[in-house]
Amino acid sequence: MSKAWEASAPANIALIKYMGKNPGNAATNASLSLALKDFRTSVRLECSGDDSDRWDPLPGSTPLRRESTEKFLRFFAQLKNEFSIKENFLVMSGNNFPADAGIASSASSYAALTQAAMLAFSEIKKIKTPDINSQAALSRLGSGSSCRSFLGPWCVWDENKIYAPDSSAMPELMDIVVIANADSKKVSSSEAHQRVRSSPLFNGRVERANLRLQKSLLAMQKADLNSLAQIAWEELWDMHSLFHTSVPPFFYFAPTTLLILRAVEDWRDEIGHMPITTIDAGPNVHLLVPAKEYSLWNERLEKLAAKSKTPFSWMHSHAGI
Ligand code: PMV
Repeated sequence: MSKAWEASAPANIALIKYMGKNPGNAATNASLSLALKDFRTSVRLECSGDDSDRWDPLPGSTPLRRESTEKFLRFFAQLKNEFSIKENFLVMSGNNFPADAGIASSASSYAALTQAAMLAFSEIKKIKTPDINSQAALSRLGSGSSCRSFLGPWCVWDENKIYAPDSSAMPELMDIVVIANADSKKVSSSEAHQRVRSSPLFNGRVERANLRLQKSLLAMQKADLNSLAQIAWEELWDMHSLFHTSVPPFFYFAPTTLLILRAVEDWRDEIGHMPITTIDAGPNVHLLVPAKEYSLWNERLEKLAAKSKTPFSWMHSHAGI
């Protein structure tokens, strides 16, 4: 059997969003995210002896769409080029969360591919494996948000570097993601990054996001979950308002998205606090809750689902790398 290299990386969910990128996936503002260790992509690389690289799903996982396979292999070729690697590979990958779960897999996929490639290339070239920051900077060229899947549970991405902020006071968190609509998106996140620049609200966006990041880091040091929930709420509406006011405008919300946002407000009034709530460039709602409150929020969702005319489901992951 030929030599193989394997790596796996978690998805991540941003509280302070990276939105409005520059060439090379350089971010216009710093972002903050939480790694989701139960939602992972695994990658396996084997030297193939073929004329070109090839992609296959890992056993039991769903095949990628053709454009996604091509993009993945193009990025792998870019990595090979960077390290002057001549060998061709069989690249295998798979997610441990369903393809139709509506959870973005690009961050975990590109982070896992970069990690596996670095293991393979450093062995082939007999060089030291690049450090985490260099690996994350390479991975970012494939998918911007993937650079935050290298550190956890929390990760800040600020210009060319990533770092784990002080989260020693924070309780263990879980992400409950409510699947509002698993259909593929009409506007990809790459296109969203371009279009938001046409919104009149883009003016001041960088300053607003950077200020929220500073406030979030202070709130984390005090384990002030109420402030984090307020900041994340403002940030979700800020990013989605950019979408809603772009030229031409677009939106991701589905009926279930609004149902959950309304419920979060009702729960806040009843219970006195709410989950840290956020939404990516999609319709699904992420509820970040202390692990010890998981059953409380799970029961709330069960009650809501029982009353709702539109069926919806949810999944959960622990925070961490
Ligand atoms: O990495 P990309 O290009 O898919 O952009 C991700 C953008 C958001 O998910 C909407 C926000 C973020 O910071 O993850």
